[in-house]
Amino acid sequence: MKLLALAALTTLVSTAHGADTSLRVPSCPAVASTTFTTAIPSGDPCPETKVDLCYTNSSLSLVFTAHGEKNYYFDPTQGTNDAIWAYEVVEAFMQKGQDDPQIYFEYETSPGNVTYNAFVYNPSRERKAGAPFDHAFVTNPFADGFAVATAIDKRAGTWTSTSTIPLALFNGENPKGTTWRMNFFRTITNATLFPDQMLCGWQNPGQANFHITPAFGTIQFV
Ligand SMILES: *[C@@H]1O[C@H](CO)[C@@H](O)[C@H](O)[C@H]1NC(C)=O
Ligand SMILES: *[C@@H]1O[C@H](CO)[C@@H](O)[C@H](O)[C@H]1NC(C)=O
Ligand SMILES: *[C@@H]1O[C@H](CO)[C@@H](O)[C@H](O)[C@H]1NC(C)=O
Repeated sequence: MKLLALAALTTLVSTAHGADTSLRVPSCPAVASTTFTTAIPSGDPCPETKVDLCYTNSSLSLVFTAHGEKNYYFDPTQGTNDAIWAYEVVEAFMQKGQDDPQIYFEYETSPGNVTYNAFVYNPSRERKAGAPFDHAFVTNPFADGFAVATAIDKRAGTWTSTSTIPLALFNGENPKGTTWRMNFFRTITNATLFPDQMLCGWQNPGQANFHITPAFGTIQFV
């Protein structure tokens, strides 16, 4: 009985927190990949999302592949830095350094190939009620060195966004040997569910709140 209970608890914990909390990322063209398949905060199954990462001296390459997609639900009237997060997106939160960040970059792309690019100021590290919580947008990302390309494959039930993020944004060029903190997310909704969303993520913050930075995983550029 004791053994069974322990096994059940172990399963619950590993489901809730995902398999790996850290990832070693090589220089391109090699890539490191991770996947996530669980909902935040419940740990229920989510369609798989794969993230491939590698770096050059000046940029981070980030490829999201969303599997099991049925909806491709986005607002085609939205443009750069609009509230695309209310629909379906994939997201990366990131900051250079090992600490639980109080300022970090929030990057999102939609199946419509629109991006959201903002630094988040979150001094409570958990978007605590009453604490400051602010955004500074990167207003001209494609002039700043960002790139994105998004491909939808409805037959396969996938969409893939391939992004380039300039490391100078973080004083982070030549990242070999540095440690960063990141988390990855995906939202799923459709016309019936909207404005409700299924939230899926790499590291589960334990609340329906992506902005809990002690939960971010660790990325080592090797
Ligand atoms: C990248 O940076 C390293 C270290 O500064 C340097 O040795 C290398 O030549 C650079 N590579 C390119 C392609 O710029
Ligand atoms: C996606 O958006 C970027 C930036 O505007 C653009 O360069 C690219 O051609 C777009 N289209 C696709 C299919 O990725
Ligand atoms: C939205 O998703 C839910 C849950 O999968 C489903 O029951 C519903 O039919 C979907 N609505 C549309 C418009 O696709």
